[in-house]
Amino acid sequence: MTTNRFDGKVAIVTGAAGGIGEAYARALAAEGASVVIADLDEARGTATAAEIAAVGGGAATYVQVDVSDPDSTVAMADATVEAFGGIDLLVNNAAIYGTMQFDLLVSVDWDYYRKFMGVNMDGALLCTRACLPHMTARGRGAIVNQSSTAAWLYSGFYGLAKVGINGLTQQLAHELGGRGIRVNAIAPGPTDTEATRKQVGEGMVQSLVKDLAIKRPGTPADMVGACLFLLSDDAAWVTGQILAVDGGQIFRS
Ligand SMILES: NC(=O)c1ccc[n+]([C@@H]2O[C@H](COP(=O)([O-])OP(=O)(O)OC[C@H]3O[C@@H](n4cnc5c(N)ncnc54)[C@H](O)[C@@H]3O)[C@@H](O)[C@H]2O)c1
Repeated sequence: MTTNRFDGKVAIVTGAAGGIGEAYARALAAEGASVVIADLDEARGTATAAEIAAVGGGAATYVQVDVSDPDSTVAMADATVEAFGGIDLLVNNAAIYGTMQFDLLVSVDWDYYRKFMGVNMDGALLCTRACLPHMTARGRGAIVNQSSTAAWLYSGFYGLAKVGINGLTQQLAHELGGRGIRVNAIAPGPTDTEATRKQVGEGMVQSLVKDLAIKRPGTPADMVGACLFLLSDDAAWVTGQILAVDGGQIFRS
């Protein structure tokens, strides 16, 4: 059954040129939202926005952004308001992931580390700050941050950035609840995207999958229900939560 929970809403999904972010953007548009595909990758972002717009449902447009650059995030918010008249929903999904370099915290090149944290952690805060005046003007809003089960496993600076995303989610939920803005996060487990295939490789995916309660990798489609729930009024009294969508990779008590 298709519903239209997001009719008349305006959503920004960062990192939506492909992968999980693209699945979020497609699903939001299918339920009536006007969607901004906000990504560094202009070629893929433009193509994805055109494909979504061609399907029907809500409108879609591409806006280039570097989520680690404060001016760029403000320009993204302004372009969204110009295109669609306001901002209701923000999904902070962009990250350096498919092209990530592996190193230890004690030896990683410092400039690379700063850039990485600037995109993968600070990017969510910068995009939130840029969208905040527009959500405040509407008196409500919902934000979903893309975390990872890596926040709870040893996974170097990638996991450290996701620990930061979880902290941001909880802090911002407190700071923004009084303005009618909810902030939650999704923590995917190993999910089959082009970036994962490039980054992790088939052998590693198989070894991760054998330890999951549900013996298959996740797909972008597996993430969509949780994201749209957290963005919707069905989650009107849910904030500051980190929802694992991970095939039973992590059990927390
Ligand atoms: N795939 C997985 O197994 C998995 C698991 C847990 C969490 N995640 C998280 O889910 C999100 C999406 O993952 P994915 O597998 O779809 O990866 P992906 O590489 O396809 O998506 C990341 C997107 O972010 C964009 N991006 C990178 N740097 C940017 C910047 N500075 N500004 C704007 N956009 C930028 C990329 O162009 C890309 O489109 C990431 O936050 C990732 O950490 C993925």
